[in-house]
Amino acid sequence: MTSTARIVDTFLDFYRERGHALVRDATLITPDGDPVLFTSAGMHPLTPYLEGRPHPLGRRLAGLQRCLRTTDLDEVGDDTHLTVFQMLGSWSLGDYPGEVSLRWGYELLRDGFGVPPERLHVTVFDGDENSLRTWEQLGVPAEILGEADNWWSNGATGPCGPDSEIFVWTGEGPPTGTPSSDRRWVEVWNHVMMRYRSSDSGGTEPLGQSSVDTGMGLERMAMVLQGCRSVFDIDVFEPWTRVVPDRVVADHLRSSVVVVGDGVHPSNTGRGYVLRRLVRRVLTRLWRDDPKRSLGDLPIDPIGATVEQFRLRVDPEYVRDVLVYEERRFGALLRRGRPLVERLLARGPLTEEDLHYLHDTHGIPRDLVEEVFAGEPA
Ligand code: ALA
Repeated sequence: MTSTARIVDTFLDFYRERGHALVRDATLITPDGDPVLFTSAGMHPLTPYLEGRPHPLGRRLAGLQRCLRTTDLDEVGDDTHLTVFQMLGSWSLGDYPGEVSLRWGYELLRDGFGVPPERLHVTVFDGDENSLRTWEQLGVPAEILGEADNWWSNGATGPCGPDSEIFVWTGEGPPTGTPSSDRRWVEVWNHVMMRYRSSDSGGTEPLGQSSVDTGMGLERMAMVLQGCRSVFDIDVFEPWTRVVPDRVVADHLRSSVVVVGDGVHPSNTGRGYVLRRLVRRVLTRLWRDDPKRSLGDLPIDPIGATVEQFRLRVDPEYVRDVLVYEERRFGALLRRGRPLVERLLARGPLTEEDLHYLHDTHGIPRDLVEEVFAGEPA
């Protein structure tokens, strides 16, 4: 079985042999002034360099970056989405062209990771003739799609461009259909041709240099190579699933560990609120089954395993203390909020005014009312 650690080594060695310098992974905390709260893609810390600033380590880079995406929160719990995940990346900063990146990608998948080429399918942006031709020459079937599927940008402004996504067949038996028609094609790697920049004014202008940004979802790649049905079944999730079988709970706890490890505290705004919501979602699910459950009973092993995997500089006991402290606050808020909400519900469905009153006077946020109290008997 190819361990997750081995995937990282194989990827980074491949690019190192091709002249790439390794960049250290940044924290999830984006710099001041960044419009995005958390690092959400491997390229995120490299944004200025993709826009043209010379990078001190040169024009060929590779690395492993932790990422957090709240955009996919509702999909977490399915087979392939996680809140916090790791992304392997390679970058050509105005150096080699997209075709070279795709050819190397193919070589690494086939020879480095042993993926049979007949289990590969790609998607290509309609109009990206170079990528299409490259895949044709490599003999990999390509599905041509439009902007909604094959144009990548990290938010409203910044570098962007057409992309080519690589999928691996995870079904039993020979592959059927295409990535957009059969979910058993799992996307593992995206190669973005960073040729444009979208600006604050909403326009898109060509960048002075053409770069390539690639991102491989580490947990997804592990799922494929370890023959697992979901990312929750891979080796690095084992310490979590052993103690918390619920996928959403396992995902959110693991994510919370990384967020706390990067120095965030639960609060009512910004990053702290994202963390608070993750912990509350965990507790809501746990208490639905058994109101006596406590994060204080969580063994230290999975927390320690995550701290180690993400190379966080934090004591696992401290992380658990933060979670338990938040649990106490949440428990108190629920005890205070429940009778208030019930009293209002007795008069009928909650109005906007009720929601404002609960929030402004009692500090009970709207999403809590909707997520926790919704559906309670009036
Ligand atoms: N930045 C690209 C992505 O995250 C590679 O998919």
